[in-house]
Amino acid sequence: MTDHISDTTRHGDDITKCGGGFDTAAIHAGYEPDESMGSINIPIYASTTFAQNAPNDLRGGFEYGRVANPTVVSLANTIAALEGAQYGKIFGSGMAATDLLLRALLRPGDHLIMGHDAYGGTYRLIASVFADWGVEFTVVDTTKPEQVGAAIQPNTKLVWIETPTNPLLAITDIAAVASVIKTSNAVQSANAKLIVDNTFASPYLQRPLELGADVVLHSTTKYIGGHSDVVGGAVVSNDSQLDEQLDFLLGGAGPIASPFDAYLTARGVKTLGVRMDRHCSNAQIIAEYLAARNEVVEVLYPGLPSHPGHEVAKKQSTGKGFGGMVSIRLRDEATALKFVQSTNLICLAESLGGVESLLEHPATMTHQSVAGSQLEVPRDLVRISVGIENVEDLIADLDTALESLGSS
Ligand SMILES: Cc1ncc(COP(=O)(O)O)c(C=O)c1O
Repeated sequence: MTDHISDTTRHGDDITKCGGGFDTAAIHAGYEPDESMGSINIPIYASTTFAQNAPNDLRGGFEYGRVANPTVVSLANTIAALEGAQYGKIFGSGMAATDLLLRALLRPGDHLIMGHDAYGGTYRLIASVFADWGVEFTVVDTTKPEQVGAAIQPNTKLVWIETPTNPLLAITDIAAVASVIKTSNAVQSANAKLIVDNTFASPYLQRPLELGADVVLHSTTKYIGGHSDVVGGAVVSNDSQLDEQLDFLLGGAGPIASPFDAYLTARGVKTLGVRMDRHCSNAQIIAEYLAARNEVVEVLYPGLPSHPGHEVAKKQSTGKGFGGMVSIRLRDEATALKFVQSTNLICLAESLGGVESLLEHPATMTHQSVAGSQLEVPRDLVRISVGIENVEDLIADLDTALESLGSS
């Protein structure tokens, strides 16, 4: 794959001038300087309601801020273009996007399949709220596509995968899973769709729709926003019916992003490519450094040839790198807890994908809610979101923290 944006990604007239490159689209797709003022950036349309020429004769299609807003729609079009999608919707958080997508695709009595490693909040929503609503689910190891095929039953409506996963950085072959779903759908008379949470890779590194996925979801809070200053979510697809359902639920339930948040995210996404380049090169160097340290029992990074998903990650990526997330396993939980409190520059905090490096202990932080489930994470695990600082400063910080662990 190249970083060239195909014609199908040219969402609306406004990006036909883009030239087709990813960074060009990130900067220009979804917004044309406006006719009246020529504002180079999408304005923050701070308006709850929009003047109508006559009842239901709308100017530009906007009526009420809970339903749609021009700043928000512009961002949706940018992200859709970057993912090669025709349709995009923006939400107030990644979880709001997940919730609405699940509500759009599922009904009580339906079944879904999800990966054995995923963001804890996604599992919690499915296992508590959707299970209570009468949705059945099966957890499988999606790195083994045959397990997905075997789990499909006539009422399976969707397969939810993350790749790379949060927090173990496992890699699933998207094209292989898409193909298995197609075959099993036919055998079971099912109609399961493949949903990929592409948060960890970002469309700069991986475009799941081109690999056979039906829907792509993002927590734009992470790499797309990129500056740890705005929470948001996005869903993109080429499915007009799904897009209409999401439209209905957005207006009906109201989890739309604020225009200000959409603006911040739109500003962030313009530099996605250059930021990802640095995230990837820093993470690769740090993964190699950590792999050479005695204190580290295992480094989980798809960019290392020793990673079981390295070849698949290479095959299905845009060839720009393996992402900015590195997880490590230390001697035991006590050592992991000590390590996450021993860095200076790298801040102990949840979340990821921002310009600054962060680290966390998933078992007691982001993935606390999966304890005791099939998604339980190792207690000796530390997840590092490698930022875009000077890599030698990050290594010096990790060095000090590892030294502080001692040998016992
Ligand atoms: C992979 C993944 N998906 C979804 C989410 C949820 O996104 P948000 O925190 O924006 O609601 C997260 C949050 O960490 C995540 O890591």
